[in-house]
Amino acid sequence: MKTEILKVNMSEPELQKMEHAANVIRQGGLVVFPTETVYGLGANAFDDKAVKKIFVAKGRPSDNPLIVHISKKGTGCSDNEQKCMLDTLISDPKEKAKPLMDAFWPGPLTIIFNKSQIVSDIVTAGLSTVAVRMPSHPIASMLLELSGLPIVAPSANASGRPSPTCIEHVIEDLYGKVDVIIDSGNVDIGIESTVLDISTQPAVILRPGAITFDQISSFIPDVQFKKDYSDLADIPKAPGMKYTHYSPKADVFVIQGDIYDIVEKINELSNIDAKVGILATKQTADMYQNGLIIVSGDRENPHTIAANLFSAFRQFDSEGVDVIFAEGIEEEGIGVAIMNRMRKAAGPHNIINVGGK
Ligand code: TXA
Ligand code: MG
Repeated sequence: MKTEILKVNMSEPELQKMEHAANVIRQGGLVVFPTETVYGLGANAFDDKAVKKIFVAKGRPSDNPLIVHISKKGTGCSDNEQKCMLDTLISDPKEKAKPLMDAFWPGPLTIIFNKSQIVSDIVTAGLSTVAVRMPSHPIASMLLELSGLPIVAPSANASGRPSPTCIEHVIEDLYGKVDVIIDSGNVDIGIESTVLDISTQPAVILRPGAITFDQISSFIPDVQFKKDYSDLADIPKAPGMKYTHYSPKADVFVIQGDIYDIVEKINELSNIDAKVGILATKQTADMYQNGLIIVSGDRENPHTIAANLFSAFRQFDSEGVDVIFAEGIEEEGIGVAIMNRMRKAAGPHNIINVGGK
C-alpha cells in the first residue's frame, strides 16, 4: 500500500492537509495521527471494514478492544456536541463520569462505559463495554472535528512493540500498511493514557498513565488500582492485559530499590559477555562501567523519563543490544505508570529487588 506522509504544523495545523486526512478517514482509510500521549492508528469507528484493517496493519489479536476517540464537537448535534457524541456511544448515565470528564477531558484519560448498540463488536472485541477518550492534541482534535466521526485508535506500533512517540517509530512499524501518516514531531507525554473502568463498582484503574491515582481518587474515593494487574489477569473485561506490550527485542531486567543499590547491582550484572544496554537517569549515568548507557531522563522530573522511555527501548533495539538493565524509579505520580511499562517490558520474572525493598 502506498503511504503518504503529511507534515503538519502542531501549533497551526494546515487546514488543507487536515481536510485531506479527514477525508481518508471518512472513506474508510487508515490515518496515523499524533495525540498528547503517543501516536495513534485511526479509523472510522462506525466502519467495521476500516476497523478490521487496524488489526491487520498492527498484527493485533482481534480479542483486544480499541479506544474510541471523540472531539469537543461531534457530528449530528446542534448545541453541546461533545456530550452528544458520547451519548451515542454509551448506555450508562454520564453522571458518574461527568466530574472526571470536566476535570480531565480533553486529556490523557480513557473512560470505560457500558456501550450502546451503535458500537460494533469489532471495536470492543465482543465486550459489552466501550473505552472512550477525548485527546487534547490540536491535530487529533482537528482530525476528529473535520471527519465528524468518532475515531478508533490504538497506539500506532506493530503489536508487541513499544508505542511510538515520534514519526520514525511509526514509519519503522507501519510504513506501507496505512494510507496516511501525519508527522508533527515528538509527542508530549510519551506513555499511553490512563484507562479507568467505571462500568464496575468500585471503579478500577486498568492502566496507569499521566492522570494519576490521586487525581482520580479525589473524584472517586473508592477507586481501585492493582499495581501489576496480576490479580486482574483472569478478568475477561481487560483482555489487553494478557498480551506482552511495550517490549523491545532484548531481554529486559528492571532493578528496583534504593538508587545506590540499584547502580551497584547493575554494575555487577552488566559485567557479562553480551551486548548490554543500561537505562540510566541523569543522576546516575556517570556511575556505570559497562555497556551502552542511555539516559531516559531526570529523576527530579519523571515526566522527562516518561517522554523518553519507549524511544530508549527502540534505540537499544536498533543498536542490537541483547540484554537491558533498567533502573527503577520512585513509584509516585507518573512514576507509577513508568514502572508499570518497565515491568511489562521485563515480564514478571525479570524484576530484581535490591537493598531489602
Ligand atoms: O494514549 C492512548 O490511550 C493511545 C492513544 C493513541 O490514544 N491509545 C492506546 O490504545 O494506547 P491501545 O489500543 O494501544 O491500548 C488500549 C488499551 C488496551 O490494553 C485495551 O485492551 C484496553 O485499552 N481496552 C480498550 N477497550 C477496553 C474495554 N472495553 N475494556 C477493557 N479494556 C479495554
Ligand atoms: Mg498499544
